[in-house]
Amino acid sequence: MKQTECVQAPTGRDHVAARGMAWLALVVLWWAAPVAQATPGPDFSALFGDSDFIEIIERDEGLETRPTGYVSQDAEPDHVFRIDLDEGQVPIGQGVVYDGFLIDGKLPGPTLRVTEGDIVRMEITNSGDVMHGASIHAAYTQTSKHVGHILPGQTKSVTFRATTPGVFMYHCAPGGHAIPMHVMFGQYGMIVVEPRDKSYQLEADLGQEPDLKLYMLQHELYASGKEAVEGDASYTAFNGQLFRYVENPIPVRPGDYVRMYFMNIGPNLLSTFHIVGIVWDYVYWQGHPEARWPGGQTVTTGPSDSWVIEFRIPPEEGVYTMLDHGVGATSRGAIGLLDARADADTPSEVLADGPTYDEGERAERIGEARRILSPFGIPAAETNPVPARADRPVRFGDDVDEVVIEMKGNSFYPKVVEVASGTKVTWVNEDVFTYGLGETSGAHNAVVMSGPQSFATAMLSHAESDSVTLTEPGTYNYICAPHPYMEGRIIVRDPD
Ligand code: CU
Ligand code: CU
Repeated sequence: MKQTECVQAPTGRDHVAARGMAWLALVVLWWAAPVAQATPGPDFSALFGDSDFIEIIERDEGLETRPTGYVSQDAEPDHVFRIDLDEGQVPIGQGVVYDGFLIDGKLPGPTLRVTEGDIVRMEITNSGDVMHGASIHAAYTQTSKHVGHILPGQTKSVTFRATTPGVFMYHCAPGGHAIPMHVMFGQYGMIVVEPRDKSYQLEADLGQEPDLKLYMLQHELYASGKEAVEGDASYTAFNGQLFRYVENPIPVRPGDYVRMYFMNIGPNLLSTFHIVGIVWDYVYWQGHPEARWPGGQTVTTGPSDSWVIEFRIPPEEGVYTMLDHGVGATSRGAIGLLDARADADTPSEVLADGPTYDEGERAERIGEARRILSPFGIPAAETNPVPARADRPVRFGDDVDEVVIEMKGNSFYPKVVEVASGTKVTWVNEDVFTYGLGETSGAHNAVVMSGPQSFATAMLSHAESDSVTLTEPGTYNYICAPHPYMEGRIIVRDPD
């Protein structure tokens, strides 16, 4: 696609120039006035005390201020990326299937790559049943105005210029409380802006392009909204699958020049990424070629934080282990291998997308799952033989008068309770962001969908509660009306 001229917003520089002209006019008047009238002009030192204000203006006049990412929405793009937001299931390895929110049917979504200065159009379709949206961190301009709320069946777009090189996150952002929720439920990916004129230092030192560009995205997976809000991850992964590069090590040759584009999505935990047997040549904070440090063993990466990491594979053959050295994360999936052999066929790139499955393979893996992991639903027992902690029924004895169920992170906790007939069941909303209505609010209720008695609680804002007492034995399945994917179950025991 050809690049066309674009409309630029007024830059800070224009404003500074205008202010400078105004000052110049004032100074000229001040200088001319005494000559004409032979009377003293105004004493500016009394107004400003000293000359600091003028010095600040003179300093600002000399500053280079970079343009923002704003372009007209009609601008001809260099890249058009079409992504699809949906809800669904995807295998994540170790016999586990994740049931959450996806981009292009994957977790993480596609790796998007552009060059500094490119005009980028994102066309985003909501194929799901709930509102979705998008936030693109590589855009130094409004995105939420254009793609912040996308209703089911809608497609919306945003066009921007990628002004700043680096490794950025994009994620679903339907607005309000739903932004953190949809990030925790799995809708995110990596967008890389390559520098246009400057190269990374190791490329300049060696006079060659990297043998391997390795795009690596670390992220967490949660079994309930409560655990998600509290950062109590069930699993951590690189590029969408537990132990993905342990099961399929990445082949490299001794001597290869590797450039990693590493990002920790989080959404909650810190990562300290390390490769056993490697000391970095250079790292670049958030991937900007000028934010360069030499050496080091790890990169400390908070949620939505990133690095470009450059290193060479040492001369010796063998396995180099990549891991989050926060070892609780290592043991839960964030580990992989670079397998160095002299005759290896090094791939030119490894992308940060989740694995792609054809429909047959996906169905087969889902059919064989030992566990379905859903942050908000109750997976069907026949497909979920070994449930996560959050999905196991919590049984309360006959001596318990009241059972409290929290609404937190758009899920009920415990999701499944078993109680004696006549037990008072109380829901407390522990979500705090309860402005607004519907998907974008953390206001919840509990409404029965099936069961021997009907019930519906009041709509609850933060720290509000409501109760029902169920006397009829049987199984009650309920949901939250504004967030119908939130599932809860109450089993009332027969008195006998
Ligand atoms: Cu979403
Ligand atoms: Cu709700």
